[in-house]
Amino acid sequence: MDKTDIIKNFIVFEGLDGAGTTTQSKLLEKMFKSNNLKCVGTCEPTTGFIGKAIREVLSGSIKVAPGTIAKLFVSDRHEHLYNDETGIIVQCKRGSFVISDRYLFSSLAYQSLDYGFDNVRELNSSFPLPEHLFFLDVPSEICQHRLNTRNSLEIYEEYALQEKILINYNKSLDLYSGTKMNIHIMDGTMDITELGKIIWSKLSSLPIK
Ligand code: TYD
Repeated sequence: MDKTDIIKNFIVFEGLDGAGTTTQSKLLEKMFKSNNLKCVGTCEPTTGFIGKAIREVLSGSIKVAPGTIAKLFVSDRHEHLYNDETGIIVQCKRGSFVISDRYLFSSLAYQSLDYGFDNVRELNSSFPLPEHLFFLDVPSEICQHRLNTRNSLEIYEEYALQEKILINYNKSLDLYSGTKMNIHIMDGTMDITELGKIIWSKLSSLPIK
């Protein structure tokens, strides 16, 4: 695994639905900007045309065969990385930090449910890794409690599935533990601002490249 390329200054947040990946991604983006550092916040599924199709599947309004969604995520990710104007790689080359709310680790955690871990791993095997991965660790009961306050749930946002998704996340963290990617497992049950400060301190203690 350690031969996989790393994209410098690319940072990813991962966690179960309700773990707070969106909140912490946005907080971190603010921290970079308030320190006069160039930073772009992004997410997967993306807001592009493939991402929009994915959202329709996630909402349950379109039913697809096992494997279709995994492959849609791969296409969305390809565009997200390699688009030569807005892609992650070009933005990092231009000197920005890029923060993505979810990346390929979500595919390993979620699409493995109906397509198998090894198949999903194979589909995603050629993608480069971020320099930093923050995994927000929150027990599935707490995530479910947080999700219950939302209006409509997506297809994966069900307690029984979340437990299985967490097992797949742990499997994917193990899989990448020998790589050059920095994996930070954070206690996502902490106070939002406190956690944000700890995340920032982990990055700001590094030399700015
Ligand atoms: P989420 O990031 O929570 O955004 P929102 O708050 O807009 O719902 O939801 C995205 C969903 O997409 C989440 O349930 C995880 C799922 N997902 C996958 O199943 N595979 C993937 O590869 C990615 C990136 C996301």
